[in-house]
Amino acid sequence: MLALDGVSKRFPSTRSGGGRPALDGVSIDLREGEILGVLGQSGSGKSTLARLIVGLEAPTGGSITRTPPTTKAGTGPAAITVQLVFQEPYDSFDPRMKLRTSLEAPLLQYRHITAEERSERIRDVVQEVELDPALLDRYPGQCSGGQLQRLTIARALLLKPEVLICDEASSALDALTQRKILDLLLRLHQDRGLSLVMISHDLDVIRYMSHRVAVLYQGALVELAPTGDFFANPRHEHSKQLVAAAVPLHPGPSSGRDSETNRPQPSAMLNRADTLATS
Ligand SMILES: Nc1ncnc2c1ncn2[C@@H]1O[C@H](COP(=O)(O)OP(=O)(O)O)[C@@H](O)[C@H]1O
Ligand SMILES: [Mg+2]
Repeated sequence: MLALDGVSKRFPSTRSGGGRPALDGVSIDLREGEILGVLGQSGSGKSTLARLIVGLEAPTGGSITRTPPTTKAGTGPAAITVQLVFQEPYDSFDPRMKLRTSLEAPLLQYRHITAEERSERIRDVVQEVELDPALLDRYPGQCSGGQLQRLTIARALLLKPEVLICDEASSALDALTQRKILDLLLRLHQDRGLSLVMISHDLDVIRYMSHRVAVLYQGALVELAPTGDFFANPRHEHSKQLVAAAVPLHPGPSSGRDSETNRPQPSAMLNRADTLATS
């Protein structure tokens, strides 16, 4: 669905302009219906990768292609829609605006969507992320971090994306709220057939969510492997350090999610993970 071919990004500023690029020749693909985990320390280029994928910034080298999924061939749009879920839920909405106004904004550019359709779509996505539509009449300051994170996901869903990029989307939340957000994303992945790119420095998040793991180190892709293989046998020196530094919550995991409980339709999820991991 998404293919990055030798993608580089060099910023002109002094921060990285004189030295190494923020991203350096990254080649990676996202398969239809896949959850791809992107792991890397702070400054490794994860957010730069996210902004390039959604088109907020242009690469300085290489190319990015967005191919529509096969199921929509002939009938669907010429390119897929990719939406970004931002890191900080409190920074994602204008504090002076009611949430309804913030959610309406991305739809206003589409003339053919009537006001009625707009409010209908907004109500639908808000319910899809398991929130009460009454929340839309509040200001961001009157909501919890978890509620705002759900609303950032709802806003991303408004434009019916095929791919959602979640850049540290749950890292600002407490553990239980974070877990609920991850399970919501897993459910959306299943219900909508949404492909996800989960960006995180948190190995547990990556292990819980991903079919494959990509490791960024100083802007370069140093490892790309099925999640089970990655945690059992990380190959690159930096990956070994990352895995060794993690607290072993589940000794000897053979798959990313096999010892987790309470997630939506576990057997279906696992089947899918296994299929993708071994293909
Ligand atoms: N707009 C920018 N201008 C200059 N340098 C940047 C910019 N954005 C990111 N960088 C640099 O690129 C590198 C990667 O940053 P980033 O993609 O934010 O990493 P991560 O999300 O993994 O923490 C860092 O060295 C950072 O300072
Ligand atoms: Mg970042």
